[in-house]
Amino acid sequence: MNIAVIGASGEVGRMMLKVLQENEIAPDSIDFYSSAKSAGKQIKFYEKEYKLKELTEESLMKKYDYILMSAGGNVSKKFSPIAEKYGSNIIDNSSAFRGDKTKPLVVPEINGGILKNYTGIIANPNCSTIQMVLSLYKIHECFGISKIVVSTYQAASGAGKKGIEELELQEKGIVNPKVFSKQLFENVVPKIGDYLETGFSTEEMKMVNETHKILNDYSIDIWPTTVRVPVLYGHSESIYIETNSKFTLDKIFECLEKSENVRLADGDVTPIDIAGSDLTFVSRIRTFNNKSLLFWNVADNIRVGAATNAVRIMMKHMELNG
Ligand SMILES: NC(=O)c1ccc[n+]([C@@H]2O[C@H](COP(=O)([O-])OP(=O)(O)OC[C@H]3O[C@@H](n4cnc5c(N)ncnc54)[C@H](OP(=O)(O)O)[C@@H]3O)[C@@H](O)[C@H]2O)c1
Repeated sequence: MNIAVIGASGEVGRMMLKVLQENEIAPDSIDFYSSAKSAGKQIKFYEKEYKLKELTEESLMKKYDYILMSAGGNVSKKFSPIAEKYGSNIIDNSSAFRGDKTKPLVVPEINGGILKNYTGIIANPNCSTIQMVLSLYKIHECFGISKIVVSTYQAASGAGKKGIEELELQEKGIVNPKVFSKQLFENVVPKIGDYLETGFSTEEMKMVNETHKILNDYSIDIWPTTVRVPVLYGHSESIYIETNSKFTLDKIFECLEKSENVRLADGDVTPIDIAGSDLTFVSRIRTFNNKSLLFWNVADNIRVGAATNAVRIMMKHMELNG
């Protein structure tokens, strides 16, 4: 098996290398790509040192079994179709192809089956969406979710290494915001992405559109507010849902226990508690009745929300297609 990792010097890229090794995936050959900025730097994979190469169109004019792509939307739009033309499977962390009806948008635990006999670009969903749908898909199967109201508390690392650097500089007193629209240190910023004419942000609409596509149910009424908080790693979400059928809390617990890679947790779970985990943590489940539910949802955004899901997509594709 031959693999390429594009954006290997980034937050998600470096984590994907870690997750590949944790899952003991040892390709016969592997290439690492970045922009010209990091090209030439060394990267370690299974105790061996590799040199990062600058990505060019020629780099992808051969068939890779899998390309793990995490270099942003514009890079993906330009390079993924070239790789697809040469017969490669591209697992793309950007939003470039998530809305494309011809490309699967995959959380393997939920809809991984659609990868059977598929070759080409596979979209990895937005980080906030992945951890939300993982906690909701079994409840949706059992009771039918009619409405979701979600507020996110998203870490600086969701904006990549530049986001982390900006928060760390602000802690040292350098406060000019560039990556975030306002100072993030000692603050909370209720804007992620750009505002659209409706007043919703692009990040909020990702949660709406991607949830519909992954759960294959466009009838769910979804109301998101996405907020950046001065946390380095780990996204939290307050999720309120309404269901079509009446539930009991015992049945909800049963659904969550059956949800793959979801952990029902006691007490108040915080991003620091779960850093480095591949699970999504659900806690503080509350209700006043038997048709609406509120809970707290926390996951490691770089792992669950990106790298781990990408590697899980690859493993599911391998399992289904030999
Ligand atoms: N961070 C998250 O929580 C998260 C979650 C889900 C999805 N994503 C998505 O994953 C992607 C990567 O995010 P990230 O957080 O890892 O960003 P990042 O830390 O800023 O890393 C970006 C990577 O892309 C490379 N790159 C930039 N321009 C390139 C070019 N023209 N050709 C080849 N490589 C290029 C960079 O290389 P250099 O080192 O040379 O600059 C770096 O390796 C984005 O699409 C992001 O939206 C991120």
